This record gives sequence, structure tokens and C-alpha cells, in this order.
Amino acid sequence: MKPIRKAVFPVAGLGTRFLPATKAIPKEMLPIVDRPLIQYAVDEAREAGIEQMIFVTGRGKGAIEDHFDIAFELEKTMSERGKDLSVLEPTRLGPGNCAYVRQQEPMGLGHAIWCARDIVGDEPFAIFLPDEFMHGSPGCMKQMVDAYDRVGGGNLLSVLEVPREQVSSYGVIAPGRRDGALTEVTGLVEKPRVDEAPSNLIISGRYILQPEVMQVLAAQEKGAGGEIQLTDAMAAMIGSQPFNAVTFDGARYDCGSKAGYIQANLAIALERDDMADDVRAFALDLLK
Ligand code: G1P
Repeated sequence: MKPIRKAVFPVAGLGTRFLPATKAIPKEMLPIVDRPLIQYAVDEAREAGIEQMIFVTGRGKGAIEDHFDIAFELEKTMSERGKDLSVLEPTRLGPGNCAYVRQQEPMGLGHAIWCARDIVGDEPFAIFLPDEFMHGSPGCMKQMVDAYDRVGGGNLLSVLEVPREQVSSYGVIAPGRRDGALTEVTGLVEKPRVDEAPSNLIISGRYILQPEVMQVLAAQEKGAGGEIQLTDAMAAMIGSQPFNAVTFDGARYDCGSKAGYIQANLAIALERDDMADDVRAFALDLLK
């Protein structure tokens, strides 16, 4: 069984839901307290033993490349002033640890992943949707890699339960046998109507997939919303490849929505020794 060494981060989306904040900065650079969303996703990947980060970017996403590069002037000035540089350490991705590829047209998540096919090559890989902020210890991908080792490979999704009326915003699984946090996936449907959804277990933005998915995506078939959907490509593999889901033991914030983004900021602020007391006092006062 090959280990999971590579991760794909589709970050080409326009982020229209956060306009005007995202007019000139990528939505993945929006901070949760003082770390951008994309940094949390990369840290989660590293914790799971992943070595190479592949970013599928687009126009206007240069800030992500700058973020993971050396900032020579900044570091020089900080050193001269005797400032602590350790805060920048997680932002360093060396040439062997990252790659950038462009998705030139917004043709869907499946298409974005397919853009990374040459860099992924012939090995299983992880996918992170950075909007989905998964907060826990161990992190979501580490929990998935552990489950992947236990089940002996195949394809693995992270899932969580949502209220029925929300399922049509997501990819939904048809569950089979259950064993603790592990659920067999017998079917998948992207953004179903509420009355047609096979369950209320949604795909929450983390995947471990076998490289054959790239061959399915190569057909470029369009699905929900007229886009090339990753969910459809995965659905086509069920039956010929093992598919399982793991329910994440931790908190999930949908940072593609404004309310989820504020909740994530509040939750992280309340965990931080340097600000928890102030923020708690302020929030309680506000709610009086
Ligand atoms: C994408 C996936 C969907 C998944 C969701 C998680 O949808 O296509 O299956 O459940 O992310 O956030 P999007 O949010 O890009 O419409």
C-alpha cells in the first residue's frame, strides 16, 4: 500500500460570497485570528505526514504563492530588529514541497483536481478544500490517514451529519455498513434535492483518492450546475474500488459562509491564551 505523500488544494475559486473582501485577495488568505485559512489546511496536511502540496490556482491568487515563499526583505528587517522569526516557519514550503498549477477556466471541482494529474502521477493523494475548516486534535486528515492504514487503502472521504434541509448544498453519501467512525460508501450524489438525498451525511472537504480518479475525470463529463464534479467521478469508481467514509472527531466550520467564518474566528480566539479572556469578556458583555 502506497503512503499518502501528496495533497491537492483547489484554490482557484473566485470567492464571490466574500466580496468585496476578496476582490484583491484570495479567499483562502482570509485569516482565522492570525493565520490564513490555507495555512491551517497545509498544517493539517503536514501533521498527516504529507510532503508535497499541490495548489491549483488561478488569476489573482499570487498571494498564496507569496505566502509560502521566503519573504527576504521582511525576514532581514525582522532579524536586524531582533524579532522572533519562528512565527514564519510554517509558511515555508521549499521547492521540493510545493507545486503550483493553473486552472484557467472555472469548470468545476473535478476539473480543478484533474489539472493536477501530472504532478499527482500514479499514487494515492489527498484533497483539501480550505473553505472547510476542520479543527481537532489529531487533525481531520491525520484521522483519515490512520483509518486508511487500518482499512488497507482504497478511497476515503471525511463526512459529517447535517440537518436534512442543508444536504442540497453538498455531496452526499449513501451509507452501507458502519463500524465506529467508519462507514462504507455505496453511492454518492452531488447536491441532491432534499427528498432525493440518500442520507444526511455530507462530504466535508477532505478526500483520499486513488489515482484512477484522474482517468475518470479526463472524460470531462458535466454534472450538477453544469460543472465537472469530483463527486460524479468518485461515484463512477464505486464497485471497482473500495470506498469508505470517516466521521471526523472534531469541530467543522464552513468558512465558505460568513457565519461559519465568524464562528471559526470566535472559537479559535477563545482557545488562545493571548486573547481568550478579553474576547470572552467582550462577547459576554455584548450578549447581556
Ligand atoms: C464541494 C463538493 C461537495 C462538498 C463540498 C464541501 O462543493 O463538490 O461535494 O460536499 O465542496 O464543502 P462546493 O462547496 O464547491 O459547491
